[in-house]
Amino acid sequence: MKKIMNGNLVVLIAVILVSHSWMITNIEGHAYLGKEKVTRLHFYFHDTLNGDHPTTVPVAYPIGTVISPSNLAPSNAVYVADDPLTDGPDPKSTVVGHAQGFYVFEMQDKVVLIFVMDIGFTSGEFNGSSITLFSRNPVLETDREMAVVGGRGKFRLARGFAKLHTYSFNLTGAGAVVEYDVTVFHYEI
Ligand SMILES: *[C@@H]1O[C@H](CO)[C@@H](O)[C@H](O)[C@H]1NC(C)=O
Ligand SMILES: *[C@@H]1O[C@H](CO)[C@@H](O)[C@H](O)[C@H]1NC(C)=O
Repeated sequence: MKKIMNGNLVVLIAVILVSHSWMITNIEGHAYLGKEKVTRLHFYFHDTLNGDHPTTVPVAYPIGTVISPSNLAPSNAVYVADDPLTDGPDPKSTVVGHAQGFYVFEMQDKVVLIFVMDIGFTSGEFNGSSITLFSRNPVLETDREMAVVGGRGKFRLARGFAKLHTYSFNLTGAGAVVEYDVTVFHYEI
């Protein structure tokens, strides 16, 4: 009987030791993720609200709002987007990924989007990986900045910032073409 209890004690201590070493492994998770590094990403984002092939559509807006070509961006409307990302400003240039998510138009005192998107890449070194943006986006300012709050794949645990520059903007025409220059801190996986 005593022997069995001692045996249980050994098992218990072994479990504690194993779980303890498991915890240590996780504390040193940085080593597991590899060295931190910085990557700069450069691409163009095409957001089209109008025409035969809009990439962004309104899904919710206040009662009484009429969405029409002359009122494509009413305040408090929610838009769902699947926007192509390309390597050049021309919409026909090579697609390198997609921005999928949604934004809310907010116009209390100035036009601002609340922007929530997964920016996923489909070519090059980061094919299959994505960064996550969640930020305020004052779209009428030609230059602005958004926060990178996370990522997937090679961008796991990413953080950083995206500098945006409006290349062209015509709500009733081709929509917006925005140049993105993103600095991402992530790990060598
Ligand atoms: C990106 O990855 C997918 C899935 O692995 C693959 O099918 C595709 O060919 C890749 N694209 C490029 C351009 O490398
Ligand atoms: C915006 O696009 C529309 C439709 O293509 C066009 O008629 C209009 O002239 C454009 N506006 C500007 C400022 O380029």
